[in-house]
Amino acid sequence: MKLSVQLAPQNEHGLPLANPVMTASGTFGYGTEYSHLFDIQRLGAIVCKGTTLEPWDGNAQPRIIETDNGLLNSIGLQNIGVRALIKEKAPIWAKWRVPVIGNIAGETGDDYARLASVLDGVAGVSALEVNISCPNVKAGGAEFGANAESAARVTAAVRRSTSLPVLVKLTPNTSDIAEVAIAVAKAGADAISLINTLKGMAIDIDKRQPLLGNVTGGLSGPAIKPVALAMVYEVAGAVDLPVVGCGGITNASDAIEFIMAGASAVQVGTASFVNPRASLDILEGIEKFMAEEGIEDIAELVGAARR
Ligand SMILES: Cc1cc2nc3c(=O)[nH]c(=O)nc-3n(C[C@H](O)[C@H](O)[C@H](O)COP(=O)(O)O)c2cc1C
Repeated sequence: MKLSVQLAPQNEHGLPLANPVMTASGTFGYGTEYSHLFDIQRLGAIVCKGTTLEPWDGNAQPRIIETDNGLLNSIGLQNIGVRALIKEKAPIWAKWRVPVIGNIAGETGDDYARLASVLDGVAGVSALEVNISCPNVKAGGAEFGANAESAARVTAAVRRSTSLPVLVKLTPNTSDIAEVAIAVAKAGADAISLINTLKGMAIDIDKRQPLLGNVTGGLSGPAIKPVALAMVYEVAGAVDLPVVGCGGITNASDAIEFIMAGASAVQVGTASFVNPRASLDILEGIEKFMAEEGIEDIAELVGAARR
């Protein structure tokens, strides 16, 4: 049975994955937090928490709220900063068989370019995922991903600054996600991942105030799956690049839906908070489905439901 996928066929280094199941940024720390819980090396890839040039403390508390079938978060890119990542985390990743993808975010296009250039050639970092889709930071984040022109500008700046494979992560908080995807593809992305969280909020009616310290946050989890699936279907039909599907994937059949919609790989996010082993359970479920259906190569399933 062939599960391997190539997420950057046009890149000089390529981004070969042993299988299509990845973890989603911000929901699996730096991978190290989970390595004692199960064999994380069996996963296709690990995407680390969003990294900025300087360490960030993130937004005011409270920053996480459970909703019906979902999670609202306004963490705001709390992270250790790129220098600590290179010094403390990358040497650990360099010893792993599973590729680790660095997720980067900035306040200006120049921030993204600098992050891409300092991470270029760092042992242990196999690719970059450019987060132009965080709804929880004032400057940057989703503002870049909300329109085609600024999304392309950030993508081009990153492309010029690294030879690493570049995945660009799109926001659903835009009027035409296919237009953004096409612009990002033209600007030099190797693959596109989607979706980040949907902007949302919740109110405490007794206190008459928003529940999140940041007022609004990003909605994730099963509640967003149908939205994510439709967007993956749309983007996979609009660009020729590999697409990585993400949003509410909780079990193997969710993952297979995204693959049948046209995703070459999937990312598991919020589900890891409920079941830390969710990503591996999903991989094993895909293998079981393929065995039962007599499918030799995962490629046979990619886009199988497209019409
Ligand atoms: C607590 C939390 C933190 C997140 N942090 C990041 C981040 O740093 N960078 C990023 O690109 N996406 C981040 N995300 C978005 C996820 O990677 C994913 O796109 C989103 O949660 C949808 O997938 P899910 O429904 O499977 O969680 C975060 C999500 C959550 C819930």
